[in-house]
Amino acid sequence: MNDTKTKGLTPDASDMIGAPVLRPDAIDKVRGEAKYVSDLVFTGMLHGRVIRSSVPHARINKVDLSRVEEDPNVICIVTSDDVPGENVVHVIYDDQPALAEEVVRYIGEPIALVVAKDRTSAERAAKQANIDYDPLPVVSDPIAALADDAPVVAVPAVVEEGKNVFNHMRLRKGNVEDGFAQADVIVEGEYRTGYQEHAYLETQGAIAVPDENGSMTIYGSMQCPFYVQGAVARVLGLPLSKVRVIQTTTGGAFGGKEDVPSLVSSLAALMAWKARKPVKLIYDRTEDILTSSKRHPSVVHYKTGAKKDGTITAIEADFVYNAGAYQTLSSAVLWRGLMHIAGPYRVPNAKVDAYSVATNTVPCGAFRGFGSPQVIFPHESQMDKLAEKLGIDRLEIRRRNVLKAGDRTSTNQLLKDSVGILDTIDKAGEMAHWQERLAAIEEFNKTSEDRKRGIGISTITYGVGLGGKAPFLDKAGAYMKLEADGSIAFSVGTVEMGQGLITALTQIAAESLHIPVERIHMAQVDSSRVPDSGPTVASRGTMMSGLAVVDAAKKLRERIDAVAADLGISKQDISTEMPKIAQTFWLKNLDPAVEGWGVTAPVDWDAETGLGNAYMVYAYATHIAEVEVDMATGEVSVEEFVAVHDSGTIVNRQLAAGQVEGGIAQGLGFALMEEIPQKDGKLLTSGFTTYRIPTIRDVAPNTKVDFVEAVFPYGPYGAKGLGEVPLMASHTAVSRAVAHALKADVSSYPLSPDRVKGIVGTAV
Ligand code: MTE
Ligand code: MOS
Repeated sequence: MNDTKTKGLTPDASDMIGAPVLRPDAIDKVRGEAKYVSDLVFTGMLHGRVIRSSVPHARINKVDLSRVEEDPNVICIVTSDDVPGENVVHVIYDDQPALAEEVVRYIGEPIALVVAKDRTSAERAAKQANIDYDPLPVVSDPIAALADDAPVVAVPAVVEEGKNVFNHMRLRKGNVEDGFAQADVIVEGEYRTGYQEHAYLETQGAIAVPDENGSMTIYGSMQCPFYVQGAVARVLGLPLSKVRVIQTTTGGAFGGKEDVPSLVSSLAALMAWKARKPVKLIYDRTEDILTSSKRHPSVVHYKTGAKKDGTITAIEADFVYNAGAYQTLSSAVLWRGLMHIAGPYRVPNAKVDAYSVATNTVPCGAFRGFGSPQVIFPHESQMDKLAEKLGIDRLEIRRRNVLKAGDRTSTNQLLKDSVGILDTIDKAGEMAHWQERLAAIEEFNKTSEDRKRGIGISTITYGVGLGGKAPFLDKAGAYMKLEADGSIAFSVGTVEMGQGLITALTQIAAESLHIPVERIHMAQVDSSRVPDSGPTVASRGTMMSGLAVVDAAKKLRERIDAVAADLGISKQDISTEMPKIAQTFWLKNLDPAVEGWGVTAPVDWDAETGLGNAYMVYAYATHIAEVEVDMATGEVSVEEFVAVHDSGTIVNRQLAAGQVEGGIAQGLGFALMEEIPQKDGKLLTSGFTTYRIPTIRDVAPNTKVDFVEAVFPYGPYGAKGLGEVPLMASHTAVSRAVAHALKADVSSYPLSPDRVKGIVGTAV
């Protein structure tokens, strides 16, 4: 590991950054003592169930809930008529109602709510609802939805006039005609990916508790407490100050708990409002899979031109994401796709058009990578095609094109520092023994007919944080206080969802305060404790909340140092003398509490050209996978895996490696097995018997993970972001390895045995 400890924000960094420390939330979780939302019980608590649309597009003729109400255990029902505020679940746009009024636009859309004494009664009663629909034309395929004569299926206010286009975004850089004219070779491809389900262990859930003075408290499994606060305030017609949101231990999220909890919590809040009692709403697995967000299915056309030496001269692309029935996060997801479609390469000329399209399908949303995996598979496949046509090694063509400090990105952003991409390629190449393995694989494949081996490489970049399309969200607060016994309590507004944020932030606090981690406690995230800190997405948690924690800790440290000086305690003894120092604060009525604030370099973006400083900083990674394909069954096994990441300074190496290993598995699932067929708006897979995700047996037995730490001068101790990047890089390393093994083009996911057999059939 590089010695980066002296380079970050705080020059006197000691030994906590990079150290392996015990995860504060680990023991409770392994003992089963952590309190998830479904474990919580409140006095008088009732249970909710959602009555949902069974059709993909229809006008609601009549909602007959008389038989639901007859159930003796039913307390009340809620329809759109009962909404005290606005009937809208605010995410980015306001098209999605909490409860459908006249029209339903996807199967599973909430229409009414049942509140009952217990969960079983609520479920039983909900089945008695009788809803009469007048069917409307259904559009479920995004390409068909773009046809001139396709009926418009979305709320008209949020689509381009007369079309099913939620968003059309552009990137225009240089002149692509000139760029292609300079090219010696041009390669083209069409790439398709389908739904990916988050498959978090804990399903969506929330409890709404009516509090004193007409306020409402929400407990729930979520990534974005401040989104939930905003949504609940809108739907109840309350000021934000009367809505308090507490994040409960969250059993995985992966982007799936970014926007959906705003809906879940709004529904729970509506029930609690009417019943005047706490109401718990926990989705069952089928309901969760069928009605909550997924990764957007995509179709991408991509054309790349390059000179004989491999230098890229131009890219031209268009892509379509199936957004589903409502906007939710699609504009943000599409934007990220647009910003990442050129990959980590120098691209002088680019013309890209991106569309998110409305259909009568479940609204899609954020999923680890946030719209970038769908364009990474294409940009990396294109690089391999160029390499093949030009007779250049695949690793080498990437080396020749990757961005360096001083270069400009596809959006014309000047990269000033912290660009470790080339080092990730070189290190990954060494660790995987790229050249040797290429030769060995060729030998192996000469003699082996029934099994073929292949090796694939994927090199990527990721803009950390929300970036130029929503710069107002990239802020974070922290609150920190010195207790009278010398321990420290702090609060932030971003959440732990498995990724290790509590550990990373506790280490950052320990480093800044020079107090051992055992004496520092991060409190449960509660919207009433800190200002709006933006969402826990875009791998921004460690960087943004880390900055806020450093800011708070520095302020507290100054006060601690002053008291220590008064007491004649030397700097190196502060850590052990903390109880005495804290006692002095208490006895002398000194203020022991501070607030911290985190913001970084400004970003900007021009919607007309798509150019600008899209993100404050970028993370990078190179993954290399080796696979073996059973040519008879089409089964693919991943045999070797190497992952090298540049996420700036690594705060906790074990946790970081864990993030990488988990992300690799999720990407492997995306590339090889995860699939939800959809027909006429109906999802044909609703459980884990048919939705296959990787298990420990599917991951490479010998996965090697390492880091190059290109320090980010504005990050906490030089840290950037990591959380999503591993998934983004891994799937294409795997799919390109399959393409190499089959000596054939691979253009759609998942590479399930049947699809692989199909490719084997067409290969020469
Ligand atoms: N890791 C675990 N175990 N569980 C999760 O839900 N979510 C991912 C990633 N890693 C996730 C995870 C996603 S989508 C994001 S945006 C980041 O974690 C967010 O956390 P960070 O900002 O602290 O990296
Ligand atoms: Mo992660 S998809 O940005 O929640």
